[in-house]
Order: sequence, then structure tokens, then C-alpha cells
Amino acid sequence: MSKVAIVYHSGFGHTQALAEAVAAGARAVASTSVSLIPVAEAEARAAELDAADAIVFGSPTYMGGLSAEFARFKDWTSSRWMQGAWRNKLAAGFTVSASWNGDKHNTLYQLLTLAVQHGMIWIGLGLPPGNNSSTGSIADLNRLGASIGAMGQANADQGVEGIAASDFKTFEALGRRVAEATQRWHEAPQRLAA
Ligand SMILES: Cc1cc2nc3c(=O)[nH]c(=O)nc-3n(C[C@H](O)[C@H](O)[C@H](O)COP(=O)(O)O)c2cc1C
Repeated sequence: MSKVAIVYHSGFGHTQALAEAVAAGARAVASTSVSLIPVAEAEARAAELDAADAIVFGSPTYMGGLSAEFARFKDWTSSRWMQGAWRNKLAAGFTVSASWNGDKHNTLYQLLTLAVQHGMIWIGLGLPPGNNSSTGSIADLNRLGASIGAMGQANADQGVEGIAASDFKTFEALGRRVAEATQRWHEAPQRLAA
């Protein structure tokens, strides 16, 4: 059984809904256990994070970067850094904002930097860009054309119904990709030992 933890902050529910899509994608991969951890519970659930083979980080984009709550969690992870507790775990990230661009890239870079500071191994989205040709549409997977992680767009005046179905599918694909990579990663030492 390989273990994937998803740690996220969500002020208004959009990131949470997309975190659940990442979890659903990961759970669809056999022999994968998934922990969905709001940042407010991260300290109390540190053992789950330490035991995970992969940690997926999710933050909304606020003022062009991580939310303050996620940034607080980021700084708390220095305690894990001191012990090298997350070294060589797999990592990935996702974000959502109201604007199509919204400076989401900056948030993903912050998540990537956090992961590599910990010595983690980053997994990108791995999907071709969608919605970038005359035959494309917002129904395409990866409609926002991200590579570093998953990007979603949620209309500012709506709840989760303001998130396109294609975004949920894109986030599910990230969860599946992380779980599949985790399985290979988890089994590698056993294969080498055999
Ligand atoms: C404090 C704050 C700052 C925001 N800054 C941005 C921003 O820089 N770019 C953007 O496109 N949307 C911005 N938004 C909109 C949020 O990114 C968007 O509503 C997102 O879906 C919120 O996710 P959540 O429901 O998980 O908190 C901001 C919202 C808030 C509350």
C-alpha cells in the first residue's frame, strides 16, 4: 500500500473541492491510501505527513501567491526540514484563482520551491495544454495550459459550481499521476532487493 497525503488550504471551498478531486484520482489507483489534510490540522496530523510516500500541496492564489494560511503551514514545515523528514518523498501541487491567469504560476513556483527545499521529488502535471487551438474549448483537460502543477479557475461570484468540469477532471488526473508514480517509487526498493 502506498500513501498519498494532500495538504491544502481553502478559504471559500474552491481549493477544497479541487483537493477532493485530486484525492478521488489518487484513490482510483489500486493499493493507494489517501489522506486529505486541511492545513489547520497539519500539525496535529504530522505523523500522517511523515508516513506518506507523496505529499500534494494545494493553496488558492491570493494576491498572486500562497494564501497566508498556507504560508503559515509552509513555515511550520521547517520543523520537518530540520529532521529531513520529507526527503525523497514525491511531491506535486495545485492552485485555483478567479482570473484565468491570476498569477497562479507564482503560487505553483512557491509550492515547487517548498518541495525541493525539503529534498522532495517534484511531479509535474504531465498533460498537454488544452484549449489553445481553433478546435479547443474550455471542456479540454488542462484548459489553462499548466505544466508545473494543476491550475483551476473559479468564478469570483460563484461557489464550486463556478469551476469547470474540465478542471475537476484535470485535478483528478494529477491525483492519478501522483498515485501511479508513488506506486512505482514505493515498489522500486523492493524490486531492487529482489
Ligand atoms: C485575499 C484574496 C486574494 C485573491 N487574490 C487573487 C489573485 O491574485 N488572483 C486571482 O485570480 N484571484 C484572486 N482571488 C480569488 C481567489 O483566488 C478565488 O476566489 C479562489 O477560488 C479562492 O479559493 P478558495 O475558495 O479555496 O479560497 C483572491 C481572493 C482572496 C480572498
